[in-house]
Amino acid sequence: MKYCLGIESTAHTFGASVVTFSGKILSNVKDIFTTKKGGMIPAEVADHHVNVCGDVIQKALDNARVSLKDITLISYSASPGLGPCLRVGAMAARSLAVMGSIKLVGVNHCIAHLEIGRLLTKAKDPVLLYASGANTQVIAYEGKKYRIFGETLDMGIGNFLDSFARDLGLGFPGGPKIEELARKGKKLIALPYSVKGMDVSFGGLQTNLRRKVESRKYKKEELCYSVQETVFAMLIEVTERAMAHCDKKELVLGGGVACNKRLQEMARIMCKDRKATCYLLENQYYVDNAAMIAWLGILQFKAGESVQPEKADIDPYTRTDDVVVKWR
Ligand code: ATP
Ligand code: FE2
Repeated sequence: MKYCLGIESTAHTFGASVVTFSGKILSNVKDIFTTKKGGMIPAEVADHHVNVCGDVIQKALDNARVSLKDITLISYSASPGLGPCLRVGAMAARSLAVMGSIKLVGVNHCIAHLEIGRLLTKAKDPVLLYASGANTQVIAYEGKKYRIFGETLDMGIGNFLDSFARDLGLGFPGGPKIEELARKGKKLIALPYSVKGMDVSFGGLQTNLRRKVESRKYKKEELCYSVQETVFAMLIEVTERAMAHCDKKELVLGGGVACNKRLQEMARIMCKDRKATCYLLENQYYVDNAAMIAWLGILQFKAGESVQPEKADIDPYTRTDDVVVKWR
């Protein structure tokens, strides 16, 4: 049996996972840097990753009942993300690869979110709505690349939700708290709806909401409900347009915001209307995880890719469509 050890460290999550070459996930361990107020100082997050990386990797091996000498391939997230955090994962991967004479491969985190959806569902050629803290993109495969058909023009939707929750005094992370309150809201307050072509933006809405919160004229429940209805409709609109444009009949969600039940419901309704299928995953595979890093590494390795440890770099800014896809 061939095993891949995946290492994820693009942002707040340090994760490790063992996946077999046939796609069975044997372990998926993570340790998340948290603060009460939210926000991240990259150097502090990197320190966290340095402190936990040994234990997380050991636990991933233990849970999978394998040892380092059983590992055929190590895959690490090489891009995009916070430089200091990426560097910790790459260092760990490189050291283990040298110690164990193990093959090494670096992968793109955003593409991994899509590929884990293809592994875990019957989806063959889906559009990915990737909605996380820092990222908001609609991605699909076309002409040997994963192309971005729509994206945020300013902040990621998760960061927007977190900042709105902070204004309301709900604490961090804000997404789940907004979801909970939104269930009690019924009245839809008109809010700026910002779709520009295939892209979305949240900046104007953020300012508008800040004023509404300060005015104290609105109930928290109603604001949360209206925010969700508005921003999720924006995401679903651009996703639907991308599906129509690419003529694709499958949708996969990814990123922490994809855990939201109302977003999932809206995605399902949109897909049903256009006779497409919306595939949902377990929450552990929406949020940042190392299983998806391991699986994409396996796909790339099987397609003939690997990197020498001394050349195993990171790049905080590589875009999804910079990657040439050799495995499809
Ligand atoms: P990436 O590095 O891929 O951009 P990330 O580091 O921001 O991701 P994720 O774990 O993918 O991390 O997503 C975190 C975000 O998801 C936070 O902004 C959080 O508020 C949001 N979130 C989590 N659960 C929910 C939910 N149920 N509803 C809405 N938002 C949610
Ligand atoms: Fe992510």
